[in-house]
Amino acid sequence: MPNNPSTIQQTGKSSQLKKIGVLTSGGDAPGMNAAIRAVTRAAIAKDLKVVGIQSGYQGMIQGKFRDLSWRDVSGILHTGGTMLKTARSKEFMTKTGRKKAWQNLVKEGVDAVVVIGGDGSFTGALVFSEEYDIPFVGIPGTIDNDIFGTEYTIGYDSALNTVVQAVDKIKDTAVSHGRIFFIEVMGREAGLLALNSGIAVGAEVILIPESTDDQKVFDRFISKGYKRRKTSGIVIIAEGDEMGGALKIAAKAEKENPDLDIRVSILGHMQRGGSPTAKDRIAASKMGVAAVEALIDNQLNIMIGLRHDQVVHVPFADAVKLNHSIDENLIKIQHMLNS
Ligand code: F6P
Repeated sequence: MPNNPSTIQQTGKSSQLKKIGVLTSGGDAPGMNAAIRAVTRAAIAKDLKVVGIQSGYQGMIQGKFRDLSWRDVSGILHTGGTMLKTARSKEFMTKTGRKKAWQNLVKEGVDAVVVIGGDGSFTGALVFSEEYDIPFVGIPGTIDNDIFGTEYTIGYDSALNTVVQAVDKIKDTAVSHGRIFFIEVMGREAGLLALNSGIAVGAEVILIPESTDDQKVFDRFISKGYKRRKTSGIVIIAEGDEMGGALKIAAKAEKENPDLDIRVSILGHMQRGGSPTAKDRIAASKMGVAAVEALIDNQLNIMIGLRHDQVVHVPFADAVKLNHSIDENLIKIQHMLNS
């Protein structure tokens, strides 16, 4: 059952709930389509109408709405990307933009909105809700898994598996040539994707923004590990690491150790594409249904989260302000097994 923090607000509007809007916003993530499908079908099952809003908040401002039927969301469960398209809308950050968005929602008869996205998307929802009386519920969708209050965000597992598959391939060539590969992984300011993918591929070094001894660990690997006994190596670098990106770190290492054979690989946006894993499809289905149920239950300005695989309600204000912490035990495991 959803938890009930004291700060959760209620709309008292459920009797008027007839039509809900659904949109995807921010960086896309595998499983977003599964979430759109779940929201649409759960709403229709509860006799609600559903309208898809194209290109996130930007489409709300431009009035890009389309009705969604049960069949409109057929055949998308297993597909990557988002059928509704997505955007990071600068205009929605302005009062004028939000006013246009509100006018379009009213014109379209939308009583509530489900937003599938990351913390930037929830910040937008929070600001909008302070100005206008239309309830929003969020579903966390980002490969970064960096949102407070939920242990899981849609897209994370798919991206993790994509990284692991890519690095496994790189490892083959690294071993053949006796090279060290510096591989940069997405995650914005969060290191979870880098940390878990690094553990899964047995990376010798993982550099993440959350750890304080990255330089020490890296130096130890070069001087003791690589030079003395290793013939190849994988260094996974979170894009937000304080030491810099893979290119910068590799250039410095090459300068200091000209005898090393170093290559760089920045995985980039391939991490956001591809068919969602079963885990992402299931999480998206659970959260999509829970979002509709929350709206029917008069909840507003909350994000649906998962903790111990159970649905929880997290106020937007917490989801966007508090930091998602990293499990120190994972760092310990990495050091014990691979350093
Ligand atoms: O938040 C998802 C994410 O893929 C981050 O990991 C990355 O830093 C960012 O989006 C990239 O954004 P864009 O697609 O706008 O370059």
